[in-house]
Amino acid sequence: MFEYTDLFQRGVGDTTDIVQKEMYTFEDRGGRSLTLRPEGTASVVRAFVEHKLFGRPNQPTKLFYIGPMFRYERPQSGRMRQFTQFGVEALGSSDPAIDAEVIALAMTFYRQLGLKNLKLVLNSLGDPESRKAHREALIAHFKPSIHEFCKDCQNRLEKNPLRILDCKVDHDHPLMASAPSITDYLNPASHDYFEQVKAILDDMGIAYELDPTLVRGLDYYNHTTFEIMGASFGAITTLTGGGRYNGLVSELGGPETPGVGFALSIERLLLALEAEKVTSTNTERLDCFVAAIGDKAKQKTPGILYNLRRAGLSAERDYMDRKVKAQFKQADRLLAKFVIVIGDEELEKQAANVKNMATGEQQEVSISELVDYLRSNIK
Ligand code: HAM
Repeated sequence: MFEYTDLFQRGVGDTTDIVQKEMYTFEDRGGRSLTLRPEGTASVVRAFVEHKLFGRPNQPTKLFYIGPMFRYERPQSGRMRQFTQFGVEALGSSDPAIDAEVIALAMTFYRQLGLKNLKLVLNSLGDPESRKAHREALIAHFKPSIHEFCKDCQNRLEKNPLRILDCKVDHDHPLMASAPSITDYLNPASHDYFEQVKAILDDMGIAYELDPTLVRGLDYYNHTTFEIMGASFGAITTLTGGGRYNGLVSELGGPETPGVGFALSIERLLLALEAEKVTSTNTERLDCFVAAIGDKAKQKTPGILYNLRRAGLSAERDYMDRKVKAQFKQADRLLAKFVIVIGDEELEKQAANVKNMATGEQQEVSISELVDYLRSNIK
């Protein structure tokens, strides 16, 4: 939940808004400077290096995380000071197919939940050589008029001119729109890499828009950067941000290791679902509901349920003393595929009556064969 402040200063970058203005930083009793994590990537890479995951044979290392993040931002709809990120990181490969796979994962995730209004925005920041050439062009572009910009931008000019492009204060200055585009400074290797990522996305049938101004608010990116925008909920439409960060592992003390990933917040996801009026995303169905009639049958239910679950089937029962009809209703609410009915008569034969809820078909099945019967009948 918190890290040494230094991790984010080095990882996220000490000229970024996140580090300069948005971190919850405090001293612990030992006088060390700690920070509530504003994002997950730096922490994942710290752990990757600390636990030497790069030494394992199964590369690339694919990781995910879900947890609270903290940024001292101005709260509004979709922007909280504590929010929950779900993120993935793939470390160890610089194959452009991994970039596309990471992007496809985020898109599939949203689509499966029922979101339709999605826009993938893509850019490449190139390799360090390309970025250096772009950096020089940015300095030359802004330098003559830098006094018209905010204090932060004036500081950023020499340190990190790319950060001027995502300044929230000087957003509308005319020099912003005419600033040199990174796309014109990509060297052949970076250009070729980006072409490959796009070709794979084309092949997957994932549409995207190119936006050379997509520089992202964190310093560790190079090559592919992307954001996924959704239906608007207030001023904010970005649902996901991510990209490639090939220098971060070595920056944080590990061996030269490429990486790529994304993070999205659950809060913005919920707002997007609401904005698109997706009411229920629950498509998960219960394999079977065990309905008991009479006290003897009720006594038998826990054992049956336990064995069904141990066999890997999802199973539920009634705990509210419902009548049979109400138990069937509950089974319906849980979208049960089968209802197993046990009454006195069935118990005597060590059997149950199994109803297929889709077809209405009923079949007597011996209790010892319930698992096999359900397994072979559940699609
Ligand atoms: P980020 O763009 O700063 O990137 O944040 C990613 C996502 O976190 C945003 O698209 C948004 O869904 C959510 N988010 C950010 N700030 C807030 C907030 N104040 N309230 C609600 N949601 C918020 C990163 O954090 C990178 N670590 C992503 C990444 C992973 N890049 C590579 N791997």
